[in-house]
Amino acid sequence: MTRKVGVVGQGHVGETLANNLLVTGTVDELVLVDTNEKKLNANATDFEDMAANLPTHTKVVRNDYQALADADVVVIAVGNIGVQNDDAKHDRFVELKVNSVAAKEVGTKLKEVGFNGVLVSISNPCDVIAALFQKYTGLPKNQVVGTGTLLDTARLRKVVGQALDVDPRSVSGYALGEHGNSQFAAWSQVRVLGQNITDLAAVSDQLDLDALAEATKAGGYTVFHGKLYTNFGIAAAALRLVTAILNDANVELPCSNFREEYGTYCGYPAVLGKQGVVKTLQLNLTADEEKLLAKSANYIKTRFDETVQ
Ligand code: LAC
Repeated sequence: MTRKVGVVGQGHVGETLANNLLVTGTVDELVLVDTNEKKLNANATDFEDMAANLPTHTKVVRNDYQALADADVVVIAVGNIGVQNDDAKHDRFVELKVNSVAAKEVGTKLKEVGFNGVLVSISNPCDVIAALFQKYTGLPKNQVVGTGTLLDTARLRKVVGQALDVDPRSVSGYALGEHGNSQFAAWSQVRVLGQNITDLAAVSDQLDLDALAEATKAGGYTVFHGKLYTNFGIAAAALRLVTAILNDANVELPCSNFREEYGTYCGYPAVLGKQGVVKTLQLNLTADEEKLLAKSANYIKTRFDETVQ
């Protein structure tokens, strides 16, 4: 069974994900698409120069939407202009405008070639763009996910791990809601050192949960200020989602998925397999957390509605 993945967009994020897929030998065929032919061909040639020094073989296909028709997964990493942050509101407006146009173009092309795999959307604003891809491809909602708060959850686990000197993989729990400023750390769900973090924080002055939540939210900006984009953290998150889907893993991961109760995509854990979201979850959140999640989801839905009207 050939494992086939497409990556649309060969900017910093798309090329890093492509490199991750090749070095890990995750796919048998990798289809790379970008409107910038020169960059696309340069990357494809550079990737082909890896082949003699890799333990696995991957066929690299250049800029062929028809080749995406039978892909298991297509990852969207188009147009991330990043947020310059000096005028964040303006940049967020421009980012949505640019990437919503790309979503319509790419989504329509994927529909035309008959793509019926799972679409993983990275492009920001992640949750809104994922919802737009579901609209323009017409794929079932479970077959479209976004990286969403999978990266924010990795940042949350990192800062908690650093505070308690444990590996981030020994921290469980989630950041929920928008992959953006209205996200929040669902502390009621976070466990570390065999205990609920809220119990640990109650008896330890090492743990300032508000500060840790702010550090999580600021994670992307911290990296962005140093190099004007982020790529490694997000590409690792995308690789994790692609691997879960290709392996039909039925693994629970926080990602941007369609939540009926909010009528939109937002960051929430779901069980992922070959068909995308194969099981949805219902967390026991606190009343405050439920309010934060509803507010964040409503913000996402409002931006989506404004874009498609
Ligand atoms: C970040 C980008 C992917 O948070 O939005 O790093």
